[in-house]
Amino acid sequence: MSPGAKSSADTLRQYEQLKADIERHQYQYYVLSEPLLPDIEFDRLFQQLLDFEQQYPDLITADSPSQRVGVKPHDGFAEVVHLQRMLSLDNAFSDEQVYDFERRVHDRLNTVAPIRYSAEPKLDGAAISIVYEKGQLLRAATRGDGQTGEDVTHNVKTIASVPLRLLGDGHPDVMEVRGEIFMPSAGFEALNARARKAGEKVFANPRNAAAGSLRQLDPSITAQRPLDIFIYGVGVVEGGALPGFHSEVLQQLQVWGLKVCPEIDVVMGADGCLNYYRSIGARREALPYEIDGVVYKIDDCDLQRKLGQVSRAPRWALAHKFPAQEQLTTVKDIAFQVGRTGAVTPVARLAPVSVAGVVVSNATLHNIDELLRKDVRVGDTVIVRRAGDVIPEVVRVVIERRSGNPAEVTLPEQCPVCGSDVVRPEGEAVARCSGGLVCPAQRKESLKHFVSRKALDVEGMGSKLIDQLVDSGRVSHFSDLFALSGAELAQMDRMGEKSADNLMAAIESAKHTTLPKFLYALGIREVGEATALSLANYFCDIEPIILASTDELQEVPDVGPVVAEHIRSFMNQAHNREVINDLLQQYNVHWPKFDKPRADAELPFSDKTIVVTGTLSAMSRAEAKEAIQQLGGKASGSVSAKTDYLLAGANAGSKLAKAESLGVPVLSEEDLLDILNKHRI
Ligand code: IVH
Repeated sequence: MSPGAKSSADTLRQYEQLKADIERHQYQYYVLSEPLLPDIEFDRLFQQLLDFEQQYPDLITADSPSQRVGVKPHDGFAEVVHLQRMLSLDNAFSDEQVYDFERRVHDRLNTVAPIRYSAEPKLDGAAISIVYEKGQLLRAATRGDGQTGEDVTHNVKTIASVPLRLLGDGHPDVMEVRGEIFMPSAGFEALNARARKAGEKVFANPRNAAAGSLRQLDPSITAQRPLDIFIYGVGVVEGGALPGFHSEVLQQLQVWGLKVCPEIDVVMGADGCLNYYRSIGARREALPYEIDGVVYKIDDCDLQRKLGQVSRAPRWALAHKFPAQEQLTTVKDIAFQVGRTGAVTPVARLAPVSVAGVVVSNATLHNIDELLRKDVRVGDTVIVRRAGDVIPEVVRVVIERRSGNPAEVTLPEQCPVCGSDVVRPEGEAVARCSGGLVCPAQRKESLKHFVSRKALDVEGMGSKLIDQLVDSGRVSHFSDLFALSGAELAQMDRMGEKSADNLMAAIESAKHTTLPKFLYALGIREVGEATALSLANYFCDIEPIILASTDELQEVPDVGPVVAEHIRSFMNQAHNREVINDLLQQYNVHWPKFDKPRADAELPFSDKTIVVTGTLSAMSRAEAKEAIQQLGGKASGSVSAKTDYLLAGANAGSKLAKAESLGVPVLSEEDLLDILNKHRI
């Protein structure tokens, strides 16, 4: 049908239905921070409305969702009428739509001159407007419906990267800056992991977590959330002038102490935009925060003014979306997987669906409590989400699409792999198979951990091979790996003589290891790399660890009663001691003598407690912690008055703020590298 077609009663009904659906979803998303649909589905619905209105322009009503940006503010907050309307962006999903955009710009400006754009990541958080008066933060407001937002000043003031007073001078008398408040991925994962452990509600994604944290009625809760901000533009400016190019405005804002995304670039033409899109796309998963696309903005503010805006979006900007990280699919089955420590984890088997370029057919449901809270059942339509290197997860059920009355899922009483009882200690979220190493699943996972890169690092010993070795009964314990022959290995699926030889060599060289790696490889519950290193530093050999009492174990930095108990109960089991003995005596697994770190006084961090936060560039956080320990210090997780230093990388959030407020000295990554160099570690 052509634009401007006449409407019938039926189309009117259809239109009203579409509007009502969109309003309901907007309410769920903006007011409750609990979306019912993945964004991509919502975008589709919205696009339907726009298409519809293009066909039937006579139907458009002033209250159509297309005529406004968001929804009404929440009751608990004071309303703020924005000095200038907060707009939304038009979306593009293909290269073609980016070229179309540039063509429209050229037509409107009546030119074919190359266009310069500011190309920026599209942050996935909550939009914010912050007004500075004479350089002082006056008020911060959410976008709300674009005209009226909520006053969240108290909450925004708790975010360390938001300056309460602008730096330098020459600020306009009144300046409204706009940006995105977001939760860095690591902070989001940690927040959810804590909630999950405590049996509390988890956030669906970092955007909901940011929006939800920002709209807490109690600012002390917001203060505990790892929020950050990037400013991406200005609104009203009075009593002063800013540069004439958007990119220069952002530079000026940075000089005044406002945080601007370091990935922003200036590019030429639609081709430059598309190159930018691809280059950021390739690094998307490595960024420490989530983005859902990029934004192109015409850089010349005069051209922006000439182009103006349509009702909800400017004509001078375009959002180019990435493939969505959330998709809809259906649950074929719910299985229970048994992990290395016996944890019984519910997993949804899904109708395969492509999520951001990867086919997903399994998603974790974390633990039985979360499964029950989300009430996932076989046959349900669910939202699955995949981000970065995090395991795909079921975010929620689209309850409206449930048909019939599928049975509620219950925790199995017996281990699905070995039939041993499944036990769940009081107050714990995790249920476990009580079979220990009798359970083939636990055996396989333990072996996989034992040979993994950070443990004994047996190159070429893959997960499928271990499954075969265990299933065929050839390998039960760690020590059996060292008894394998080349001929035996060559008989396994997908193994030739050559790869068997290589594997034999890898097994042989895995015998030369280090004490911390060996301890880590044993797979004792809660003994990760850092704890293994602390144990090695303290005891210097395996024998004293095998014999240590829980009290003695607790003398080790970072070892508390729970970890001590796990170590003791592992060592109390005769078969574990036998395996260790076989490895060391019979198979000659060995390590260079482990010396206590040099006499304490010589080391720069002796007796010092150091917290590491933010993204480091030359090393991982785990490596930084190891370095700190080698320098005599203790790496700790949270900042308190007892913290001696904070090592802060890029995008350090709440910990940095806390350290600053407590007067804890802050070290940079370069500082640490300098110290390491000086001590030739
Ligand atoms: S510019 C008139 N730049 O995307 C321009 N927006 O649909 C309006 N967003 O809620 C926004 N990153 O909060 C702009 N670099 C960026 C952005 C960005 C994320 C959000 C914005 C708004 C939505 C627009």
